[in-house]
Amino acid sequence: MRANKQPGFATRALHVGQEPDLETGAITVPIHATSTYVQQELGKHKGYEYARVSNPTRTRLENNLAALEGGVAAPVFASGMAAINAICSMYRMGDHIVCGHNLYGGVPRLFNQILADFGLEFSYVDTSDVRNVERSIRKNTRLVYVETPTNPLMSISDIEAISHICRRKKAELVVDNTFMSPYFQQPIALGADMVVHSTTKFLNGHSDGLGGVVVCTKREQAEKLAFIQKAAGAVLSPFECWLVLRGVKTLAVRMEQHDRNGRFVAEFLARHKKVRKVFYPGLPDHPQYQLAQRQMSGFGSMITFETGSLSNAKRMLKRVRVCSLGESLGGVETLISHPATMTHAALGEKGRRDIGITDGMVRISVGIENVEDIMDDLDQALAAI
Ligand SMILES: Cc1ncc(COP(=O)(O)O)c(C=O)c1O
Repeated sequence: MRANKQPGFATRALHVGQEPDLETGAITVPIHATSTYVQQELGKHKGYEYARVSNPTRTRLENNLAALEGGVAAPVFASGMAAINAICSMYRMGDHIVCGHNLYGGVPRLFNQILADFGLEFSYVDTSDVRNVERSIRKNTRLVYVETPTNPLMSISDIEAISHICRRKKAELVVDNTFMSPYFQQPIALGADMVVHSTTKFLNGHSDGLGGVVVCTKREQAEKLAFIQKAAGAVLSPFECWLVLRGVKTLAVRMEQHDRNGRFVAEFLARHKKVRKVFYPGLPDHPQYQLAQRQMSGFGSMITFETGSLSNAKRMLKRVRVCSLGESLGGVETLISHPATMTHAALGEKGRRDIGITDGMVRISVGIENVEDIMDDLDQALAAI
C-alpha cells in the first residue's frame, strides 16, 4: 500500500473514530454514560467538562462521520430536524434561504411555521433546474438548501452546477444526503459547503435510534455549530451515538445490498400492470438518469410509485406482510409508507398538489431481505387494487 493512500470507504467506516478503547482494548467504542467529568483542579481537565458540550462517544462518532463525508467536522444532533434547525441558527433575521420545493415535509414545516417568525426568509424552487436557483438568489441570500434525491419524488439536483452558482453569489450550499448516504454520493467533493443527514436512516440503518449530523467543510462552521450544540443543547445521546457507530460499520455492505434489491424492485414495479408510474433514478426513463449516473455511484433503494388513488394505496398497504407499513426509511427491513398522509401531511393538500405528490403515491424503502420475498409481497398486495 502506498504511504499516502487514503484507506477506502469501508475501512474508514470501521476504523476512524472506532479505534479500540485505550484503557481496556475493548474493540467497540465505550458508551460514556456521564453528565459531567471530574476535574483535577480548577481549570485543569482532560478536555471534557460537561456532557452537553462534549462526550467521548460523541467525539468518536463525529470523527467517523467527518471522515466518511470528507469534511473537517461533523457535529451530531438529537435528530435530523435538530441538525437542520442548527444550520438555520447559524443565520439571522433578514437572511434569505433558497430551498428545493420538494423537501421532506418536516423541513418546510420547520421553516414556515417556526423559523419564518424569527425573520428568516425562504423561497421554494424546483432545484432540478439550476436556472431556478440562479433566478431566485437575492442580495440577502445566504444559503441554498437542496435535498437530492428528493423525498418522495426522487428528483435529482446537480450539486456541482449549483455549487458554482453559490460560489459566484457568495451563498453557502447545504445538501441533505440522507437518501444516498456518503457511500453513494459525496456532496462535498462536488462543491457543497455543508452536508446534513438524518442519521435515523441509512447511517444508523437499524431503525433503532433518531439522530442528525451536519458535516462541515470549514473550521468557522464547525465552531458555530459546536457553540449551537452547547447553547441550544439538542445533542445526540452517548447511547444513540454508539448505535450509529455500530450501524456505520456495515454501511458499505448494507448500501450495496439496498442498491441491488432497489434495482430489482424498481424494475419489477415498472413492469407491473397495476403500477402507473415509478419514480427511481436508476430507471432509464427517469428525467435525470444521466445526472444520477454522473453524480451518484449507486441508485439506492428509495422508490416511489403511483397506485392511482387513495383507496388503491390504502388497499395495497393493508395487505403487505414482508414490507412493514410505517414512516421512516433506510433500515435493514423494508419500510413502506404513504407520503400524502404520513411524511408530507404537513404540506397540506394544495402544497402537495403544487409539487406533484398525489394521494395514490406509495413510497418504499427497500430493505435487505431476499428480494424475491419483497417482490412476492408487493405482488400479492397489489392484487388488492
Ligand atoms: C431527507 C430527510 N431529511 C431529514 C429528515 C428528518 O430527520 P429526523 O426524522 O431524524 O428528524 C428526514 C426524515 O424523514 C428525511 O427523510
